[in-house]
Amino acid sequence: MTEKIGILTAGGDCPGLNAVIRAVVKAGQYAGFQTLGFKGGFEGLLSPCEPVELDYNRMDGMLIRGGTILGAANKGHFAGKVGHGEVRDLDPEILREAKANYDALGLRALIVVGGDGSLVIARQLAENGINVVGVPKTIDNDLDATDQTFGFDTAVDSATDALDRLHTTAESHGRVIILEVMGRHTGWIALNAGIAGGGDVILIPEIPFTFESVTEKVLAREKAGKKFTLIVVAEGAAARGGKQSIKGDEIDREVQMGGVGQKVADELAKRTGKETRVVVLGHLQRGGAPTSFDRLLCTRYGEAAVRMVRAGQYNRMVALHGNEITDVSIQRAIGRRRRVSPDGELVLSAKALGIGFGD
Ligand code: F6P
Repeated sequence: MTEKIGILTAGGDCPGLNAVIRAVVKAGQYAGFQTLGFKGGFEGLLSPCEPVELDYNRMDGMLIRGGTILGAANKGHFAGKVGHGEVRDLDPEILREAKANYDALGLRALIVVGGDGSLVIARQLAENGINVVGVPKTIDNDLDATDQTFGFDTAVDSATDALDRLHTTAESHGRVIILEVMGRHTGWIALNAGIAGGGDVILIPEIPFTFESVTEKVLAREKAGKKFTLIVVAEGAAARGGKQSIKGDEIDREVQMGGVGQKVADELAKRTGKETRVVVLGHLQRGGAPTSFDRLLCTRYGEAAVRMVRAGQYNRMVALHGNEITDVSIQRAIGRRRRVSPDGELVLSAKALGIGFGD
């Protein structure tokens, strides 16, 4: 009888989810597994539990297709229990139901594609007897246990493309244009896209900024004959003395995301007298086809996850270290956030190029 493995995509979506599914289905088929896909994230494990049989021959086009054919959810019976290091126990009845359905389907293992929050849930499933293998996903790239999560490269690419376009119009009109990108607690997207897209100021949660410093930068550029300024701000960035969304590894969930770009624009208009415009990139960063880097990473992750199932290595997550695909325990992966170091090479090299961080 063909052995079965399950797969689900949890949390917010991200470019490359379908590429992971495709790799699991294809590598799975060669290894003698039938892959079952659970719809709607972890909710798909609950009754009526009707996973779909994922067919090798129907994976055409999946490498480049954005979103997830399985659907994703960050609401429902499994939501609200999650977050970096935050471990709240799932309802035992929900866990029992998920395990009963997993057993009834005769699954050998369940591949969970998700970020930190999803891994917290995956670990609880594992503690209840489900053989779990994790695949790290988040455009924020803030999991410490892997050098890179998939989706990040695509998000940086989208943000860089936006900056390229904003550059020309900012220059034509001599305006200050602010691009707000995602990144609730870390500034990886803002930092990478800011450098790649020639931003003049990058504001990130790890480096509280002052309006004085950002104003000085705009005025200094003006004095040097550069009438326009491009500013990239991560949604979780905050002014010094203002409410920070994260201190150390402690998250303040009361802090509302979004809106920082507008605040910076209003303040700069007042202080410099220049025309300002704001663009919130929003979910454009999460949609569409993955870059070739992400396609490759997703394919390697998916294949490695199947290899781990074959080897019986459970409760572990595939990871990228250097250019090698390895694996780490899910326990080790949970709750460790990779944050931008204010003294790290990327920030220092950006500063050496004259990019301001508002500090
Ligand atoms: O974790 C990824 C992320 O893209 C964050 O940067 C962002 O704040 C969040 O998801 C938005 O998620 P949603 O709109 O799905 O709630």
